[in-house]
Amino acid sequence: MPTEVKGGAGRGAFITFEGGEGGGKSTQVQRLVAALRARGVETVATREPGGSPNAEALRDVLLAGLVAPLGPAAEALIFSAARIDHIDNLIRPALQRGAFVVCDRFADSTRAYQGALGKLSETFIDGLEKVTIGDVRPDLTFVLDLPAEEGMARAGARRGRAAADRFEAEAIEFHRALRDSFRAIAAAHPERCVLVDATQGIDEVAADIWAAVCRRFPAVAVASLPT
Ligand code: TMP
Repeated sequence: MPTEVKGGAGRGAFITFEGGEGGGKSTQVQRLVAALRARGVETVATREPGGSPNAEALRDVLLAGLVAPLGPAAEALIFSAARIDHIDNLIRPALQRGAFVVCDRFADSTRAYQGALGKLSETFIDGLEKVTIGDVRPDLTFVLDLPAEEGMARAGARRGRAAADRFEAEAIEFHRALRDSFRAIAAAHPERCVLVDATQGIDEVAADIWAAVCRRFPAVAVASLPT
């Protein structure tokens, strides 16, 4: 039965989406969640920063740029504080009951935005990640990859006349370096990460993602659609 589909080691499965701005992560999270649910797999869709009431409150503070003046180390700590609450109140309980959790951004975003771009040491980021996420590590991570110019153009079109947030407002050089950083993360963790060409159309990207999910979780591939 589809409801028997599980990730590894007696728990659910944790899938994250990462990448720069405008890569279509939110759309692809929705597509994957719909495909999993259509097969009867209990699936929780969530995002970072946020995903729990306390973490959503911290999201507002972070994206308004209120922590930026304190520097990247302080920002990394506040993103991590939000992550701890999100894990405790939503992610871990869902995994423990065997659900799939699909999360729009997670710890790789701290490593790229605050770590690489904020010039924090790997020792700092490794230690912070260890105390923040413990054993709640993603089973599979999609890195949606596209040129910074294209991503920023898409993000600008989506935003319309609304003001850019803390990170959207950074210069194009920041977003180019961000892309390099996410690509480096994907290359360093080939067992977990799948680099996806996000310049493709929505359906093509969704197909690449679904194929990778079926490879990683074969039980999902054979779970039947309702007739
Ligand atoms: P988004 O949900 O629209 O992608 O916005 C979240 C923003 O926060 C995005 O610009 C990336 C940034 N961010 C970090 O800088 N560090 C983090 O750890 C996370 C989760 C997000």
